[in-house]
Amino acid sequence: MENVYYGSELAKEIRGELKEKVDVLKQEGKRIPCLAVILVGNNPASLSYVKGKEKACASVGIESKFYHLEETATQEEVEETIEQCNNDEEVDGILVQLPLPSHLNETKALLKINPKKDVDGLHPLNVGNLYSGQPGFVPCTPLGIMELLKYMNCEIDGKTAVVIGRSNLVGAPVARLLQNENATVTVCHSHTKNMEEVCRQADILVVAMGKEKFVNHTFVKEGAYVIDVGINRMEDGKLCGDVDFEDVKEHVRGITPVPKGVGPMTICMLLSNTMRAYEEREK
Ligand code: GUN
Repeated sequence: MENVYYGSELAKEIRGELKEKVDVLKQEGKRIPCLAVILVGNNPASLSYVKGKEKACASVGIESKFYHLEETATQEEVEETIEQCNNDEEVDGILVQLPLPSHLNETKALLKINPKKDVDGLHPLNVGNLYSGQPGFVPCTPLGIMELLKYMNCEIDGKTAVVIGRSNLVGAPVARLLQNENATVTVCHSHTKNMEEVCRQADILVVAMGKEKFVNHTFVKEGAYVIDVGINRMEDGKLCGDVDFEDVKEHVRGITPVPKGVGPMTICMLLSNTMRAYEEREK
């Protein structure tokens, strides 16, 4: 369908461009960009995300270093690993896979990352930069969503946008990015009254709530753009989004599917943030 936009296709294009850049660096005998990934514990979802990130780096020729700490690692051990990556001249980007085990302090760990290597955009300095409209690293999923909206030829300036979800990783930063591009933005969450009615005002609807097929056509304005950030595993083992795709797709100008929608863009933006960190360090 021509109103279905695949993040997997766009990600492939962007990865192609990144690979060309890395190939040129190799030909010129230059240092190659490198991402350090820190994982604490053995959460299966986190392990699979981290493997996907390593594989994606390899696919464009970006190097990666993997630091796998025990579930029982102390705050000091985690922070020492981050410090080691901060001081490692070969490392351009650092990603601490979240969530950390509950005995660890995530905020304190993120504060340790050198903001210039914070390719996940979660250090408070980069969060502040986003909120004050200054340049800095932006979290990968929100960045991928903005790229997808451009790919969909969706105008943002002056439009009404509704974001369902207010997490630090997705909802809050994507709302700010939309606002920075002059959309009028409403953020909905679990305490929002009349969510359907609020969503029906949206020219752009971004759904990041983590509830299988929650959004059906009654939430959607005719001709809207819908970005589905949810990844839910159904009883039959298949993945689905927070949007009931089949029910909504006839009503919209553009929609992203799950899988092959936002997910591949997230990893791709991690690669492009790593390339950017490299280029800024090599300047
Ligand atoms: N866990 C789930 N998504 C993410 C992400 O984008 N970054 C990090 N660091 N952890 C995550």
